[in-house]
Parts: sequence; structure tokens; C-alpha cells
Amino acid sequence: MRAIILHGSPRRGGNSDTLAEHFIDGLKTTGDVEVFDFILNDMNIRPCQGCESCATSEGHRCVIDDDMHQIYNAFADADAIVWATPMYWGYMTAQMKIALDRMEALAMDVQRYWIDKEFVAILTYRHHYQSTIAFFERVQSYFKFKFSSILYCSKNEFGSEDFHVSTCPDKLEEAKNLGRAMGLRATR
Ligand SMILES: Cc1cc2nc3c(=O)[nH]c(=O)nc-3n(C[C@H](O)[C@H](O)[C@H](O)COP(=O)(O)O)c2cc1C
Repeated sequence: MRAIILHGSPRRGGNSDTLAEHFIDGLKTTGDVEVFDFILNDMNIRPCQGCESCATSEGHRCVIDDDMHQIYNAFADADAIVWATPMYWGYMTAQMKIALDRMEALAMDVQRYWIDKEFVAILTYRHHYQSTIAFFERVQSYFKFKFSSILYCSKNEFGSEDFHVSTCPDKLEEAKNLGRAMGLRATR
């Protein structure tokens, strides 16, 4: 089993990172897992320039020469892609959206990159996650990936600070259980 984790939060060890970690722990209970962590905030990934050369170039290669190619290389052979991101101003973070836009180069070859992969959206939020879930649900029928999600509301009703997910054992268990269930499915 190969899993990619796209870390969309600039906060290392925050809610989405922690849930991704528990998901992977669950996955690992069912067999060997090779994990590729991509900390998007620390990577040099330029926004898509809309040049559309990926539509016509050999192998649909993106002409921008930056760290996104590390993700492209890992993507083809991955069984599971984890999209772990908080909600910022009503959508996934800019770090995640920039990487997602650059996936345009992979969208040209649905068979190779998307079909039957396990996609897991880990969304952490205070008020709203629906726009990002709606995105994955909308494209799922075209790309034919399997889709699951873990949602965590970090809002503290009584103060301005968030509750870290580590104070919510049920949520951590949910993430671990999803990983375990996915691993079991893969070994069948
Ligand atoms: C700049 C910024 C913008 C945010 N915008 C939203 C938002 O639009 N909707 C929402 O529900 N939460 C919003 N939040 C709250 C975060 O999504 C929430 O605190 C989340 O649990 C953080 O996840 P992390 O620990 O993985 O970084 C925002 C937080 C920040 C710092």
C-alpha cells in the first residue's frame, strides 16, 4: 500500500496533520504502508499559469520546473491520496488549492492517475466545510476515485481559541478506524 499525504495546513501538528497521522496509524495496522508526506507550505510550488501545455506535451508534462514534480512522481503509483486541509475563508487553504490546480497535468490521464484510488479528505474547520466536500463529490463521477472524509470542527463555543483534536479521542479513533478499514479493503 502506498499513501500520499498532502498537508495543506501551515500549522505543523495542527488538527488536520494530527488526524492524517491517526489515519495512517490505522492503515499501518493492516500491513506495510509506504507513506509520502508532502508539506505543501514548505514546498516550492508555483500556481498554475494556465498555459495548457500539459494538454499537448508528451506525457502531459507540466512545463513549470518546481517541487510539484515530486508529487506528480508519487501520484501514479499511490493507492491512497489524503487531502488534509483546514478551511480558510470558506475553502481549502491556498497551499492546497495551488497544488490542486497543478493537478491539471494529471487530469489528462484519468486511467493512470485517478481511477479506483482511495481519496480521503480530512477537513478541519470552525464553521463550514461543505464547499470543499462538494468539490470532491462533484468531480468523483468523472475521475472515479473512491471517496471518504473525516470532518473536525475545532470551534470553542466559549472562547476564541480552537479545541485541538487531540482533546477529542472519538475523532482520533474515527480517523484510525477509517485507515484500518481502508487497509483491510486493500488486502482483500
Ligand atoms: C486565516 C484563517 C481563516 C480561516 N477561515 C475559516 C473559514 O472560512 N471557515 C471555517 O470554518 N474555519 C476557518 N478557519 C478556522 C480553521 O479552519 C480551523 O481553526 C482549523 O481547525 C485549523 O486546522 P489546522 O489545525 O489543521 O490548521 C480559519 C483559520 C484561519 C487561520
